[in-house]
Amino acid sequence: MPHTTTVLSRHLPSLTGGALLLLGSLLSTTALAETPEAREPAEVYRQVCAHCHAPDKAVGPEITITFPEAAWEARGNYIRNTVRHGRAAMPAFRAAKISDAELEGLIQALVSGELDDAPAQGGEE
Ligand code: HEC
Repeated sequence: MPHTTTVLSRHLPSLTGGALLLLGSLLSTTALAETPEAREPAEVYRQVCAHCHAPDKAVGPEITITFPEAAWEARGNYIRNTVRHGRAAMPAFRAAKISDAELEGLIQALVSGELDDAPAQGGEE
């Protein structure tokens, strides 16, 4: 039955395409679920950094230090490196924990002094 073969081969590519489309939409849904709205710098600090770096915890050194603007880039690179790769007793934080956008916002807030004396986790909102 040559007819059936023709019909099948005509339908196969579209079936594959449909499956790929479905897979694609599943993947993008997952990606969306893993990329929530970027948190505010103060929130990231409170949720991820403060329980070691807040003055009353003193596990890590004080990091909410205002730097002169000329040093922001160098200090920012240093913080980015420390957060992504860890430093001695400090663990590394991957993008799943702090997105790139959140890290950039946090760095800006840290070097500019915006987060000076930021409250520890559980502090007032
Ligand atoms: C589990 C505890 C812990 C957490 C959470 C943590 N740190 Fe640290 N951090 C440390 C320790 C301990 C050190 C000191 C490491 C050393 O001995 O050099 C440190 C050092 C640093 C330094 C270098 C010190 C300096 O000022 O030059 C920076 C910058 C830093 N942390 C930033 C951060 C940021 C930003 C976060 C949140 C995204 C964070 N840390 C979360 C424990 C922590």
